[in-house]
Amino acid sequence: NSLEKASFTWQTPSNIALVKYWGKTDPQLPKNASISFALSQSHTITTIDFKKVDKVETPTFELFFEGKKKDDFKPKIAKFFERILEYCPYLLNYEMVINSENSFPHSSGIASSASGMSAIAMCLMNLENELSKSTLSDEFLNKKASFLARLGSGSASRSIEGPLVVWGLHEEIEGSSDLYGVKFPFQVASIFENYQDTILLVDKGEKQVSSTVGHNLMHNHPFAEQRFQQANDNLSKITRCLKEGNIDEFISLVESEALSLHAMMLTSNPYFILMKPNTLEIINAIWNYREETGSKVCFTLDAGANVHMLYPENEKESVLQFAENQLSKYCQKNQYICDSVGLGAKKL
Ligand code: PMV
Repeated sequence: NSLEKASFTWQTPSNIALVKYWGKTDPQLPKNASISFALSQSHTITTIDFKKVDKVETPTFELFFEGKKKDDFKPKIAKFFERILEYCPYLLNYEMVINSENSFPHSSGIASSASGMSAIAMCLMNLENELSKSTLSDEFLNKKASFLARLGSGSASRSIEGPLVVWGLHEEIEGSSDLYGVKFPFQVASIFENYQDTILLVDKGEKQVSSTVGHNLMHNHPFAEQRFQQANDNLSKITRCLKEGNIDEFISLVESEALSLHAMMLTSNPYFILMKPNTLEIINAIWNYREETGSKVCFTLDAGANVHMLYPENEKESVLQFAENQLSKYCQKNQYICDSVGLGAKKL
């Protein structure tokens, strides 16, 4: 292992779950399977410069975010490196300088942990491949990158591949695993190709309750077992919808998943609410719009107040007009992001 210096740059997508992951056991193993779309516009670009040093005791790195030194993000990444050290012992032979930037506005309430952790994981696997004289297969590299990213943030395991990724063992998804995400193994109906996601930025503030705390509240949650069962059942149903193009059932499953996720928060002990009044205004406006126009638009939510509006490509013009005319008033600074389903990690 003679590589003195190396530098790799990777772009990895954010993702939006259709069936949600909420609840886990150590070490970051999901209580149910989940499925997500990778996004094309919302991504992280990360460069890691590696410099060989005499063996260090713990992974050593500097961190720059959007060009500025960012020490407050360091503990999370230090913890991540410690967790993956047993799978990447070469980390102790290098000093790292990490430079990272997001395509979406900082603290817009769009989770950056998925794309952030997956980008680091891809850079590490790039180093590992170089150290192995480029003998590792793409399949191995992607699988291990997803495995590593998962240990940083569960949903990051779904930010290596695209357009659709399943994470969590599920009987109908061949090759699926709790340890890493796998590409959805079926051809999807044409209506779901190039699906659109307009992200309405309702609240950019720090979440009052982190997803780590939220996941933990699923231990001893009165509805936990039913929820995990429901999610696995919904994954079966949504698999069928995606294959057959049943968009009406897709809509009701996706919206039910979003509300069920938030229902878990409302019924935790302690309980909490991440939706804001404008989240509900937008949901109601989407329902009215669908009723009035026959549109196939639907919404989903992450662990926050922002609303993702999902719809087929052939409605792009009309839905964007709807967003601009009727929904932007519910967004902070009238901001929303026009995104669509994308592919996985890309080396730059
Ligand atoms: O990856 P985490 O630990 O930040 O959890 C994310 C959970 C949700 O975004 C709410 C759902 C999901 O499956 O992405």
